[in-house]
Amino acid sequence: MFERYKEELQELKQNFCDRKLISLKKAGKYIFEENKKYLNLSSNDYLGIAEDRKILKNFFKIADFSMGSASSRLLTGSSYVYAKLECLLAALYRKEKALVFNSGYHANTGIMSSLLSPKDVVFCDKLNHASILDGIKLSGAKMFRYKHLDYEHLEELLQKNRNDYDTAIIVTESLFSMDGDIADLNRLIELKNKYRAIFVVDEAHAFGVYGNRGLGLAEEQNCIGDIDLIVGTFGKAIGSMGAFCTGHEILINYLINKCRPLIFSTAIPEINIAFSYYVITEVIPNLKQERKELIKTADRLKEKLTSLGLKTTGSSHIVPVILGENQTAVNVSKTLINNGYYLLPIRHPTVAANSARIRISLRADISYEEIASIPDLISKTINV
Ligand SMILES: Cc1ncc(COP(=O)(O)O)c(C=O)c1O
Repeated sequence: MFERYKEELQELKQNFCDRKLISLKKAGKYIFEENKKYLNLSSNDYLGIAEDRKILKNFFKIADFSMGSASSRLLTGSSYVYAKLECLLAALYRKEKALVFNSGYHANTGIMSSLLSPKDVVFCDKLNHASILDGIKLSGAKMFRYKHLDYEHLEELLQKNRNDYDTAIIVTESLFSMDGDIADLNRLIELKNKYRAIFVVDEAHAFGVYGNRGLGLAEEQNCIGDIDLIVGTFGKAIGSMGAFCTGHEILINYLINKCRPLIFSTAIPEINIAFSYYVITEVIPNLKQERKELIKTADRLKEKLTSLGLKTTGSSHIVPVILGENQTAVNVSKTLINNGYYLLPIRHPTVAANSARIRISLRADISYEEIASIPDLISKTINV
């Protein structure tokens, strides 16, 4: 009865594309597996907050919250703790309202599937995250995927197709999670205005890291006010769990009424919501220097990779090294792990076929000196 699944699993293995769950222990920037110690360069804990015991201890001194919400947000899962976080976010972004979700996946699938219908159209960067694509698929709207960061291509598609549909959405990540490159939000705002589209920006990997107050790349590019919905997640740089969107009151009220992942799932516990609030108000404002250092480390690493002829993209703390075949990425990953760097291969379908890579997720508590040997290790492995 399960023969079909077994065959597919075998095929994945033959293509070096099978995945497994690992049992590991984390302590700060390190991972321990079977008593071996590795630098953790595969997480999204960009500021080292999730595993910072000092921050956790300080938080728990003031924390008196439940570990289970026992209900959807629309029943009794919501509370003043949620309201406080949502008010804070709306105020920080100077938007009318904010809404907290259980995760970025819930937020994106929910936003796309509720705001779009089969009469509508969405223009989506080719490399947008799976959660955005899944939400669009659920909505039944017509989707046009423009070439990654190619706004001439986007305008061609808008010109040809925009008027055939009711509502239009343009959606992009601000910092692309697998390539580390950055959208030109102001250019997208011009297009959104010209073609009457709602503009949605997913700041999952930028929230906490970029911008003067850590609000993300919209803050850095000085265009928060022109974006209709900004999405951010708490499970990455914030070191907590959950997500939010912020924007016009009508859009947020509509989501409260229509967004199925919000309505039909138990709300995450108050303790996480309170921790996100704590990190945004008490921790991030004190990490300005760390955030600067993180970007400097990334620049140095990229310079070294490029000098060795290795292919890297982007201009952020996410540093991919594009290797091509799955097997190459698997081999490079093994070498790096053997040398104390926890770097897992990224393969199709997470990235396009034949663009398997190592994605070095830098963190503020790891210095350049600690990772300086990575480029040589990669270069030697692929040149043997
Ligand atoms: C761009 C982007 N958006 C959304 C998500 C989903 O967020 P979460 O992990 O909170 O579900 C991710 C996850 O990696 C992501 O990379």
